[in-house]
Parts: sequence; structure tokens; C-alpha cells
Amino acid sequence: MTGISHGANSTIARKFPWKDYQTFVDVGTAQGDLAAQVALANPHLTGQGFDLPEVAPIFEEYVATVGVADRVSFSAGSFFAQPLPKADVVMMGHILHDWDLPTKQMLVGRAFDAVPIGGAFIVYESIIDDDRSKNAFGLMMSLNMLIETPGGFDYTGADCAGWMREAGFSSTRVEPLVGPDSMVIGIK
Ligand SMILES: C[S@@+](CC[C@H](N)C(=O)[O-])C[C@H]1O[C@@H](n2cnc3c(N)ncnc32)[C@H](O)[C@@H]1O
Repeated sequence: MTGISHGANSTIARKFPWKDYQTFVDVGTAQGDLAAQVALANPHLTGQGFDLPEVAPIFEEYVATVGVADRVSFSAGSFFAQPLPKADVVMMGHILHDWDLPTKQMLVGRAFDAVPIGGAFIVYESIIDDDRSKNAFGLMMSLNMLIETPGGFDYTGADCAGWMREAGFSSTRVEPLVGPDSMVIGIK
């Protein structure tokens, strides 16, 4: 996932207004490249990578290699079993598209609960354009998820913004990253 996600991760690290925040958690962090890139580009931040316990060794080795282990730690758990760690900014990359609609909505709700008023939720993957006519990669990725998983699918920026509004986020916006990837940002 680091190879697939690194370009978007570096862009989020530079493009999002991190100066307004102090802490972050990357949910479903895998090796931790998003957390590492955000911390490298923003020395005032501290953060966590949240994932299943068996992921801890690869995460800890990676953040040590990148040189951010003093500010980025691993938080072990399952997003089905517990609330998300609290932080100013919650991020999910290539997470929501793995799951069916009720699970997507549950995860968006857990992100809402984890951030303070004014906090942010960043969702990124191959977000499909709202009229579903341009992002062919995103549409093909959605077909891929429909085949590979029991209920997963990709979605438009408007879909994701709608789930964020339903959960209680007061403002939302969609911003392009690199290639077919965009991020959807919700502010609580
Ligand atoms: C497709 S990868 C995304 C990795 C990374 N966010 C990225 O975009 O490159 C999905 C991640 O979700 C994690 N994951 C799956 N089920 C989980 C659960 N119940 N709780 C926490 N993390 C989970 C997996 O271990 C994996 O690291």
C-alpha cells in the first residue's frame, strides 16, 4: 500500500492546512506512510497510526526508518470493536471503499466522534467525479471492489460529503490529489 499511496500521502502532507492542528490519527494505517509523510512535512504535529495489532511491527520499523518514531506511534485495535483514538484530524485512505454502505456510515460516524469541534476528517482514495463520467480508474476500482469484497464499492465526492453531513460534519469539500485520487474533507 505504501507504493500505491505514497504520491497522495505526500500531497496530503503538503496541501492540507496542518498549521491549524496539533494531532492526527491515520485509521487503517498499514505500514504508516501517510502518518510518516504528514509528520515529516509538519514538525509541530504528533500522531498515531491505528490498525490491527499484527500490523505493529511493520509500522514501527517503517516510522523508525523514516525518522519520525519520536512523534508517530502505533495504536492497536479494530474499528469494528472500539471507538477510534481521539485526535484533531482523523484520516482514512483506501478504507471506506472496502466496505458496504452501513459500514461506511458507521466508520464516518466513528470519525465524527473522534474529532473535537473544529476538527477534520480526511477521506482519500479514487473518488469518482459526481456525474460518474470522467474518473475511469475510480469506476474500474469500484468494479474491482464489488468483485473482490462482499459489499465494498467506490463512490463520488458528493456521496462521501453526504455521509459526512449525515454524521454531523458542518462543512465538506473535495480536493484533487494526484492521478485519480482526491480527498474529501469534513469539518466538525
Ligand atoms: C487497503 S489498506 C489501506 C492502507 C493505507 N491506509 C493506504 O491507503 O495505503 C486497509 C487497511 O485497513 C486495515 N484494517 C482492516 N480491518 C481493520 C479493522 N477492523 N480495524 C483497523 N484496521 C483495519 C488493514 O490492516 C489495512 O492496513
